[in-house]
Amino acid sequence: MIINILEIKDRIKELEKLFPNIFTNNSIVDDLNNNPFSIYLVYLLNDKIIGYINYYDIYDRIEIANFNILENYQNNHYGSLLLEEVIKRSINKSNITLEVRIDNKKAIYLYEKYGFKRKAIRKNYYHGIDGILMEKEMMKMKKDIYVLGIESSCDETSFSIVKNGVEEIATVVASQIDVHADDGGVVPEIASRAHVKNVTFVLEECLKKAKMTMDDIDLIAVTQGPGLIGSLLVGLETAKTLAWLYNKPLIPVHHIAGHIYANNLVKRLEFPLLCLVISGGHTELVFMDKDYSFKKLGGTLDDAVGECYDKVGKILDIAYPAGPTIDNLASVGKHNYQLPIPLNDNSYNFSFSGLKSAVINLVHNEKQKGNDINKEDLCCSFQDVVIESLARKTIHAIDEYQVKNFIMAGGVSANKGIRNHMQKICENKGLNYTFPEIKYCTDNAAMIAAAGYYAYLDGRKADYTLNATSSIELK
Ligand code: KG4
Ligand code: ZN
Repeated sequence: MIINILEIKDRIKELEKLFPNIFTNNSIVDDLNNNPFSIYLVYLLNDKIIGYINYYDIYDRIEIANFNILENYQNNHYGSLLLEEVIKRSINKSNITLEVRIDNKKAIYLYEKYGFKRKAIRKNYYHGIDGILMEKEMMKMKKDIYVLGIESSCDETSFSIVKNGVEEIATVVASQIDVHADDGGVVPEIASRAHVKNVTFVLEECLKKAKMTMDDIDLIAVTQGPGLIGSLLVGLETAKTLAWLYNKPLIPVHHIAGHIYANNLVKRLEFPLLCLVISGGHTELVFMDKDYSFKKLGGTLDDAVGECYDKVGKILDIAYPAGPTIDNLASVGKHNYQLPIPLNDNSYNFSFSGLKSAVINLVHNEKQKGNDINKEDLCCSFQDVVIESLARKTIHAIDEYQVKNFIMAGGVSANKGIRNHMQKICENKGLNYTFPEIKYCTDNAAMIAAAGYYAYLDGRKADYTLNATSSIELK
């Protein structure tokens, strides 16, 4: 006899047919599509479904909605085993509740045996028959939610623990900058290997720093994409293993959602807001009217702004990543070189490959003429054009969407020149603004943990089929 309790995915139709007086055609499919909190567990006996339990996993509590064993299999403890499975899955929750018909003595006896207490009578709950609301207390009302965040999408292996989406408890980032410095950029194969080497140490260090164990963690949030596939997989498989081993919910997070929520660690986001996302892989304008709801207004048509900084750095013999150095040189240079403002139109899109080519051509022409390049001046001219391009599109979006809140996100938002300029724009327009802490502009897991908290509240829980995706839309 093979017994198995499974969360169903592909046997929904079978379950619908087995209990025709409870389910109609597609009713479970519809429920699963419309209710992200709903979970169905089935009891398999020699691969035949003989019963199920449907419960809602809502934030910090569990609500049992529906529970049934086929008539021929009742009185064999199968129901108890299903109930035990739900109790086992609820160890981190504050309570489990359910309603039962007042005349269903057998069921009430079972629930009481498992520690459920009668809390209230629901008059006429079952078409003329009263229901009893029963509750099993798990933990004392757990007020704080601790999220373990995992980030490994590019060249940083990072773990972090964040409380309630806003308060950072501990973060560890193992950067591979030294590993890739000689190559002038990230080498994917080398990056994946370095993640594998670092991942356990970084987790250990993070828990040690927080003075916590995995038992104190409530949720596991991990970057699902976009990023380098080999790198992403290291973090993702680690997250799945931890979620399975410690029976914690697994929350997939979009890397850019993470960058955006780095701002939430400075100040709680206020809506509606506009976010200028500027990183090594992204340049986009994102509108949000509530938590974890993203509307992309436009983005780069070619290179990302950070990528452009790094490529311009290469031409000027500046070590990777070149952004911070160019920023410093720009601050002491003069705008003496003429460069074109890219994609100077009314759209929300950006383009940076033309600007990069203009810098390459300028350097070659000057060299051919035998002139030295004034690096400070060229960096200043380049950065001014970048700022001008970003600012124009941003102002256009602020005006059109009438937002009162502005934030920035991504590695390039550490740029002093861009920050100063955007701050001035916000002050002139009377907008509230927040920029991430400098250390959380570039990749880190604190931002993933913060975003993961809101992703969870939005019902974005994954199962163990979760896979990494190198390119994935923010939505
Ligand atoms: O967000 P991030 O860590 O990686 C991606 O998700 O893409 O961003 C890394 C990028 C690199 O291109 C780096 O040159 C750039 O951010 N960056 C900067 C500055 N600091 C980092 N770019 C301009 N100015 C900076 N101060
Ligand atoms: Zn990033």
